[in-house]
Amino acid sequence: MTNFPNVFIFDHPLIKHKVSILRDKNTSMKEFRELVEEITTIMTYESMKDVELVPVEVETPLEKTLQYRVADDSVAIVPILRAGLGMVNGVHRVFPTAKVGHIGMYRDEETLEPQEYYCKLPDGIADKTVFLVDPMLATGGSACDAIAALKARGCKKIKFMAIIAAPEGIEKLYHEHPDVPVYVSTLDRCLNENGYILPGLGDAGDRLFGTK
Ligand code: PRP
Ligand code: URA
Repeated sequence: MTNFPNVFIFDHPLIKHKVSILRDKNTSMKEFRELVEEITTIMTYESMKDVELVPVEVETPLEKTLQYRVADDSVAIVPILRAGLGMVNGVHRVFPTAKVGHIGMYRDEETLEPQEYYCKLPDGIADKTVFLVDPMLATGGSACDAIAALKARGCKKIKFMAIIAAPEGIEKLYHEHPDVPVYVSTLDRCLNENGYILPGLGDAGDRLFGTK
């Protein structure tokens, strides 16, 4: 845990193992992509702990019984483009029927300020639990702006999930959106002068998609 009540840091040996391989500069694009997906799946179980259930009557081979299911169409995944795309399959493994919206943000390389360039969300997004995903939380600018964009479209139940975070990003998210739960697999040391996380893993989008 951290000093921020909205932030949950995973302290799971399997996640530590997988993140250590993710960080390695010699890890291939294929393995990197698979690890991002696997880590996201593990995190999704935890972050869905309070997801809303509705009662359903089920008939077993022996009798009728009252059971609980996640309400139909109540969950959406919104990756922050591009790198967030790498996490979508990880959530879908746990929750295959979730619809997917997309928010496109890029960081201006000089100012580090995020710029929104695309937003397309499923109908009824305002009433869904939205899993906003991006592997990297650095200055926090992209995540804060993406959350603001979702709130501006009426979303009230937003959860943010990242694989690696810098303390600077955690702090900014807490100050701007203390109502949004934040799930982070690993909290790193700091940002460098170019806004990269240390020790980090480099540029997540480039490593996922093989660009430079
Ligand atoms: C990366 C990352 C986050 C953002 C984090 O995206 O995937 O979206 O930087 O940085 P911040 O917390 O300082 O805003 P980038 O802008 O490199 O775009 P990409 O996903 O297209 O590579
Ligand atoms: N975006 C990345 O992909 N990596 C960082 O270290 C910071 C922002």
